[in-house]
Amino acid sequence: MSVHHFMEWLNGSAAANAMNGPEWAFPVVESLHFAGFALLIGTIVIVDLRLLGFGMRRQSVSDLASDLAPWTLAGLAVMLVTGPLMFSADAVVYYVNPSFRFKMVCLAIAILYNFTVHRWASRSGPSPAVGKLVAFFSLALWTAVVAGGRMIAFV
Ligand code: HEM
Repeated sequence: MSVHHFMEWLNGSAAANAMNGPEWAFPVVESLHFAGFALLIGTIVIVDLRLLGFGMRRQSVSDLASDLAPWTLAGLAVMLVTGPLMFSADAVVYYVNPSFRFKMVCLAIAILYNFTVHRWASRSGPSPAVGKLVAFFSLALWTAVVAGGRMIAFV
């Protein structure tokens, strides 16, 4: 089965029919997509601001990171459910959308980075300079994911 045929199959799947059925389905799922990214990226940004030395100094970076980790995972779970649901609604169109492709590449790098370099920096207490560098790249990656997501509807 070619990728295009798979996207056509996905477009006719039960998930796609549910998303393209009642008028409220897509906006409700997209709203959850927003809420999920606020939770996911919001918790990561709090740790990045701490690594950059902006506020929250009563808590160590590692305490903050481990307290927020369950919320970050919950946000990621919401995104990995709502995203594919929205994608299925118009898979053939989204799949060729350059902004969607840019977002998916950035997303794969951002998730890998978050659970490797970022986790190391937030747990091992590197030098302030290294901590700031790690936080800077984290913020840049997640900004690219959000920008890619936002631009999907415009390209
Ligand atoms: C986990 C990190 C993710 C973040 C931070 C994220 C963020 C966003 C943002 C900001 C938008 C724009 C919403 C709007 O302004 O209308 C968006 C839209 C979208 N996202 Fe995601 N997303 C993520 C994961 C995913 C995944 C894994 C998929 C699918 C495999 C996906 C599929 C979509 C689709 C199809 C849209 C376009 C909806 C439309 O047509 O308006 N997203 N995303």
